[in-house]
Amino acid sequence: MPSDYHSADRNVLPGACHSSIRFQVAAMLGLLIGGPALAGDADKARGIVAEVCSACHGMDGNSVIPNFPKLAGRHPEYLVRELKEFVSGTRKSAVMTPIAAKLDPDDFKALGEYFGAQKPTSGQVLDQKAAASGMKLYQDGDEERGVPSCAGCHSSDGAGSKRFPRLAGQHREYLIEQMYNFRNDVRNYGAARLMREVAKRLSEDEIKAVAEYLTGL
Ligand code: HEC
Ligand code: HEC
Repeated sequence: MPSDYHSADRNVLPGACHSSIRFQVAAMLGLLIGGPALAGDADKARGIVAEVCSACHGMDGNSVIPNFPKLAGRHPEYLVRELKEFVSGTRKSAVMTPIAAKLDPDDFKALGEYFGAQKPTSGQVLDQKAAASGMKLYQDGDEERGVPSCAGCHSSDGAGSKRFPRLAGQHREYLIEQMYNFRNDVRNYGAARLMREVAKRLSEDEIKAVAEYLTGL
């Protein structure tokens, strides 16, 4: 957007058109008015976050609403992948699909980097007993029932990687909801199939327990 603005500025455009482009860009990215002459991708991403994402995910990516995931500290590649899954409709979300579809895919990377660079916060454990059994399941899995250790993919501190999303500190409500989305095939594409197999082997109590543990990390 800012580069359009500047190239529009340099091109010789009829006066009326010129000011209408200026007005539209200014209205969409109010934050950037008076900003640096050539705003970089990072500034552009920050502008989009302020305008669109922050209402639900928080300006620093630490949403305070339990059903909106925290995005802070996630690996940028994971966030880009999920945005693409929302656009293609392979990951279904009545809320995120229309939002992602309106974005310019060229901005996904900068958005991923913006959220990846934010410091993630931890949640509060409310049920210590559940968290303790959740920890055991997360770290060791349950060999007899063929449940793999979650730590094996998501890492033992829950920080994740580019393939496996960060789970540490995430809202328990969101974690639980997503485990059911895997079980019910709402997330049923490439990488998500790994998770579907895992989620289908867990009981309701185990899903709650592992979410309770992860929220406190
Ligand atoms: C109206 C609230 C709302 C807004 C605004 C919003 N989101 Fe979301 N976002 C959600 C919800 C709800 C989910 C969980 C979707 C689901 O059920 O899978 C989500 C999920 C995501 C995910 C997947 C996270 C994960 O853990 O897998 C990404 C990435 C994301 N949003 C990015 C964005 C970006 C970037 C913006 C701004 C351009 C944005 N969102 C704006 C509500 C919102
Ligand atoms: C074989 C590797 C693997 C194992 C083991 C595994 N996961 Fe996952 N998990 C994944 C992958 C891959 C994704 C991302 C799927 C996608 O891209 O949509 C994921 C995503 C998730 C998500 C969604 C996160 C988000 O932000 O939307 C949750 C929650 C989750 N895993 C919990 C668990 C729990 C709890 C366990 C252990 C019981 C576990 N996982 C074990 C590979 C694994």
